[in-house]
Amino acid sequence: MDVDSVIEQLRTVASQANNEGRAKLLKAFAELQPTLEGPKGLFMRLPSIRFLVPIIKLGQDLNIFASLAQSSPNPLSSRQLAAKAPVSTASPVLVLRITRHLASLFTVTQTGPDAFTANPTTHVLATTGADGAMDMLMAARGEVADTIPAFFKKNGYQDVTDEAHTPFQMAFKTEKTWFQHISDSPGLSQSFYQLMLLLKEGDPWYKVFPFEKEIEGFRPATVLVDVSGGVGQQCVDLIAGFPHLNLKGRLILQDLPEMIGSSVVRYEGVEVQARDLFTEQPVKGARFYYLRQILHNWPDDKCVEILKRLVEAFDDESQILVDDIVLPDQGASALATGYDILMMTFMAARERTALDWNRIFDEAGLKILGTHVYAPISMFAITQVGRK
Ligand SMILES: C[S@@+](CC[C@H](N)C(=O)[O-])C[C@H]1O[C@@H](n2cnc3c(N)ncnc32)[C@H](O)[C@@H]1O
Repeated sequence: MDVDSVIEQLRTVASQANNEGRAKLLKAFAELQPTLEGPKGLFMRLPSIRFLVPIIKLGQDLNIFASLAQSSPNPLSSRQLAAKAPVSTASPVLVLRITRHLASLFTVTQTGPDAFTANPTTHVLATTGADGAMDMLMAARGEVADTIPAFFKKNGYQDVTDEAHTPFQMAFKTEKTWFQHISDSPGLSQSFYQLMLLLKEGDPWYKVFPFEKEIEGFRPATVLVDVSGGVGQQCVDLIAGFPHLNLKGRLILQDLPEMIGSSVVRYEGVEVQARDLFTEQPVKGARFYYLRQILHNWPDDKCVEILKRLVEAFDDESQILVDDIVLPDQGASALATGYDILMMTFMAARERTALDWNRIFDEAGLKILGTHVYAPISMFAITQVGRK
């Protein structure tokens, strides 16, 4: 078979695929990589993978993404890019070397030996949100990741279950938990939420979960409590996504007081409450208590406590929506297992299989009513949970 025509067909299929089709294709490409590069190919890639985050950060510091986004669709040379850098000493030779590498990563597009333009990823990287997100990655991931082998050698290769003893504490030489660390540093919490806003795959959850149907005929005031909802993006999106449902005034955002204060989103029509996850839930009888990327931050025993505080506030129609990964028992993607490693190293937490989730819900007096996968690669899903 002619390779070029297969590639051409794949381009067409990829550009027309829906979310599930894209997930299948990405999985197939990941599986094909070792076949194509051979068993030692990984070692050819590892050195440059190691530099990924700092090089993208350098690209931002040099204004490469912002300059290309502004001049789009016109290309810029390394000399023009250097002239637009925030400092006048930036060398065009350095800028060429960095931009050429950024093009190899498809974060910008190379249109000639010394000509570059913006692509959709460039436009995302040019935003202030992406600046904050990269600051977060720079402030945290590298040091903690480097500590992983030493941490496990010291702990005798045990699983991590105590959020006060993780590679994060070892790397940062601190006794604080990860969330204490970021909430004590307003700049970092801002960057954290900017990163959270960029972590997106698939459709919005409420396009897959039948939100409108589920709240049909529901009268009590509070439709949804976004429990530890960070900057409140989900409430804002629900109001905008369902204008005919008059959700203004019927959604409540809760989070730690210091987090609520560092908000980067406006909460028009959203009531905001400071609340610790382990304290009594003051909003009784809401239709949904929504937990987005919360339980995967905590070990099992803490998850049970968090859920019990919500069950105590239930009335007959109340349910919990857990928005987290449901790991497949076999063949999980690197996105999903990567999250698991991330949760383990920073918070002694984890991603969970359906069996893991069942155990936790059961202990909290709950049962699964349905599972709605909305991100088919990472397997983020809404698990709808009600009283047993
Ligand atoms: C991974 S973020 C998820 C935020 C939000 N749900 C989202 O998806 O963007 C975890 C959130 O848990 C909050 N959090 C951490 N510890 C908490 C606690 N003890 N009580 C209440 N919220 C807490 C953090 O402030 C943070 O906003």
